Amino acid sequence: MEKVSILTGGGDCPGLNPVIRAVVKTCLLHDWQVLGFRNGWKGLIEDEFVILDDHLVSGILPKGGTILGTSRTNPYRKQGDIERLKSNFNKHELRALIVVGGEDTLGVADRLAKEGLPMVGIPKTIDNDLSATDYTFGFDTAVNIAMECIDRLHTTAESHNRVMVVEIMGRHAGWIALEAGLAGGADMILIPEVLVDINDVCETIKRRHARGKTFSIVAVAEGARLSGGKEVSETKLDEFGHVRLGGIGQLIGEMIEKNTGYETRVTVLGHIQRGGSPTAFDRVLGTRFGVRAVDLVRNKKFGRMVSLRGREIVDVPLGDAVKELKLVGRDLYDLAKIFFG
Ligand code: F6P
Repeated sequence: MEKVSILTGGGDCPGLNPVIRAVVKTCLLHDWQVLGFRNGWKGLIEDEFVILDDHLVSGILPKGGTILGTSRTNPYRKQGDIERLKSNFNKHELRALIVVGGEDTLGVADRLAKEGLPMVGIPKTIDNDLSATDYTFGFDTAVNIAMECIDRLHTTAESHNRVMVVEIMGRHAGWIALEAGLAGGADMILIPEVLVDINDVCETIKRRHARGKTFSIVAVAEGARLSGGKEVSETKLDEFGHVRLGGIGQLIGEMIEKNTGYETRVTVLGHIQRGGSPTAFDRVLGTRFGVRAVDLVRNKKFGRMVSLRGREIVDVPLGDAVKELKLVGRDLYDLAKIFFG
């Protein structure tokens, strides 16, 4: 019996389980067995896996997270790990490995594909910052959660005449903050792609309040910077060398209160944006990606990644996924600015 494998790596996101379900159900149609490696690359290094059958994927479509577990393990970091990974891969005589991940996880898959291993990629991240696909699953869910939180902040902000600063995930890209801010009617949106002067932020809020408004909502991407300022982060790095961002919301909140005199509160949405059930869009996208990835395995199109272009699922070289980050363009930010203040 032919064997295909799958792993999920990097930060989890809603839609991973629909992908796993789609891969397993499609492989079973071909009478292929599916090995699911646990906790990202760690599972392949340590040979920890589960045989994914129909029973195991039953009922997981609406579940957030990943039944396989995930981690930010980088197999190229510790000496000996990559050799262990390859030897386990060869031992199982796998037809292919389907790698579901973001920039870092897919970067490893690309390297392994170039070293001759049969890899197929599926892009995932709530950040939606992969340039080789129009959308990644997880993003739509995160935007909807953040939008709902902004809706909720509106009623309490209004009742207390407060400024509410809401810090939103997205790493170096402002997609979630921009779209949730637009959808939730934020009065100001700050993203990493556009540097803003804090005095302009405060003047916008003051002008708004002078018009008779008694509250304001400021959506701040965790990677946002003020002109002259830096990203706010912890000093610890993950295995791929990324800092953990966070703290810009608090900083901006304090500045706004000091400058405007308006009482200000800060909410950090954090991992709430990554948890829970995927939206219909993310379930369908994950399912389409999963089925198409198995097609690539069947046709031995390795070193490729599935991608959404317009309404079509296509495939692109894995290397394209990690070439550059997809950032928010100036035109979209200018559109959002129409509604500031
Ligand atoms: O890449 C997804 C993401 O949620 C980012 O938006 C965020 O900066 C990061 O992961 C948080 O990582 P962790 O789950 O390791 O705290």
